[in-house]
Amino acid sequence: MAEFMTGLTRTHYCGELRLSDVGKEVTVCGWVQRQRDLGQLIFIDLRDRTGILQLAFDDSTDRTIFEKAFTARAEFVLAAKGIVKERSAKNMELPTGEVEIVVTELRVLAKSETPPFEIVENSNVKEELRLKHRYLDLRRPDVQKKIIGRHKIVKVARDYFDENGFIEIETPNLIKSTPEGARDYLVPSRVFPGNFFALPQSPQLYKQLLMLSGFDRYMQVARCFRDEDLRADRQPEFTQIDLEMSFVDEDTVMAMGEGFIKEVYQKVLNIDIPTPFRRMTWHEAMERFGSDKPDLRFGLELVDLSKALEGTEFRVFGGALSAGGSVRGINLKGHADQLSRKEIDKLTEWIKTYGAMGLAWTRLTEQGETSSYEKFLAPDEVTAVRNALGAETGDVLLLVASPKSKVVFDSLGALRCELAARFDLIDTSAPNLLWVTDFPLFEFDEEENRYVAMHHPFTAPKEDGLELLETDPSKVCARAYDMVLNGNEVGGGSIRINNPELQQRMFKALGFTEQDAQERFGFLIDAFRYGAPPHGGMAFGLDRLVMLMLGGESIRDVIAFPKVANSSELMTSSPSTVDERQLVELGIAVCKQQQSEEISKK
Ligand code: AMO
Repeated sequence: MAEFMTGLTRTHYCGELRLSDVGKEVTVCGWVQRQRDLGQLIFIDLRDRTGILQLAFDDSTDRTIFEKAFTARAEFVLAAKGIVKERSAKNMELPTGEVEIVVTELRVLAKSETPPFEIVENSNVKEELRLKHRYLDLRRPDVQKKIIGRHKIVKVARDYFDENGFIEIETPNLIKSTPEGARDYLVPSRVFPGNFFALPQSPQLYKQLLMLSGFDRYMQVARCFRDEDLRADRQPEFTQIDLEMSFVDEDTVMAMGEGFIKEVYQKVLNIDIPTPFRRMTWHEAMERFGSDKPDLRFGLELVDLSKALEGTEFRVFGGALSAGGSVRGINLKGHADQLSRKEIDKLTEWIKTYGAMGLAWTRLTEQGETSSYEKFLAPDEVTAVRNALGAETGDVLLLVASPKSKVVFDSLGALRCELAARFDLIDTSAPNLLWVTDFPLFEFDEEENRYVAMHHPFTAPKEDGLELLETDPSKVCARAYDMVLNGNEVGGGSIRINNPELQQRMFKALGFTEQDAQERFGFLIDAFRYGAPPHGGMAFGLDRLVMLMLGGESIRDVIAFPKVANSSELMTSSPSTVDERQLVELGIAVCKQQQSEEISKK
């Protein structure tokens, strides 16, 4: 039978007690980490969110209490009252390891079955099992540390933005479907059968409307929902620290964002981050690092070999160049001995997932030189490529050619990160932060065969590109900026369009008819007719920021109840089917065959 807390009040957390507390009568509560029965002596390690404390029971202990201690098992919930005593055998590994409690009253508040895995730090139990029993996984000290650290980061955010005159305003979660790039999660309306709300991909439009309403500086710790394919740094629902400011330009918003990062690193990790951050144009980031979120903690920069190979007769390279693409390479300096042919073959297969047709390579070892492509090139081309890459004995040259430069960037951008991790080339001594600026306003979506907004349709174009909006949209730059931390996009934002005519031109460039635009965004276009101040803002991906600050492998590590790769939640087994009655009420019929096909695909 479980006992009650009645009449007992916790006086201390387990992890708090020290030698200075010796002699005090205390009451602690928590879970049994382990029980050691030495016959005349029983020790129980009691755990709560602050740490572990030893409870001691010996022959001076009341027999009924001793009996209870004897039956206590891992994860039983106990309350213990007693006197703090200096331990004879100290455990200096534990912060409380110099003391123990000689127990005078013990209550078993709840029993526990044997848990499916042991509650220990840095467990190597499979993630699937851990997430199925996430409430147990969350008992692990390292997991708790991240969740508590997350709370601290959010607290600093709220304080920082409050001190800077921001007002936290909640925006709705049931909104009109206005997809911003990802697929919307839809919520059927019971009152209007066949009509749907969407869950917000971000509070973007609402925060802009709040600027129009005169709030001037808005912030929100906002939940966002995007039905997109998941990766280690993406969840279908995630949290943003979202902000918007009126009467500002890029520099003001960026300085505010930098100030927040400086403050949060200082307050949470006691690390000083120098400001202002480095800035790099999107074009430079792509050319040098093959990524719009370059990791600058290591070199391995991309080199454009298109000039060196101009006019080459080797079909793989020449074909890519004549089709308007490029050939680029990186030089893995001094690692030829560590990167075998076999390893290169594996990398070749891997790089194909980025769309590359293959990976051309040259290994320059002390023992000799081997290459997958040099035999097909003229001698002066070989020399030109080697010179461009600064090749020396000991190096491995890795080249990608494609008619689409985007494929070259994506694959070499990923390869440089992979090689840096594999050969331990990353300088982890300090967080690396930068802004990427001057993004193109549009990117061409091959599937839809039209331009789409690279950021979102409300981002202002740079003034010098305005006249190209209709004639050559690919050349227009956006007033957008992304913040990059250790090669991860941790935030992004822009200065917005605040002129209704320009917004209409933007919608047109994106292929919306006037009627389409009115149907989807009419409320915004209308609102902008009533005096919209110049405004801009940004949003931090909170989950990513917490993961990078506190050290997680995936954002799942810093979310209390995350979803897994197929967007399901293992603990509650959701999504799940619902009663027929609920569907009828919503006027929804589920196509059973399609449903079972979809499920079997997962
Ligand atoms: P954006 O779409 O760039 O901008 O999102 C801002 C930041 O949110 C994080 N993020 C995600 N984190 C986890 N899972 C996801 N699926 C996910 N998607 C994005 C990233 C990203 O930098 N409304 C604009 C902001 C603005 O313009 O003010 C927006 O949402 O860290």
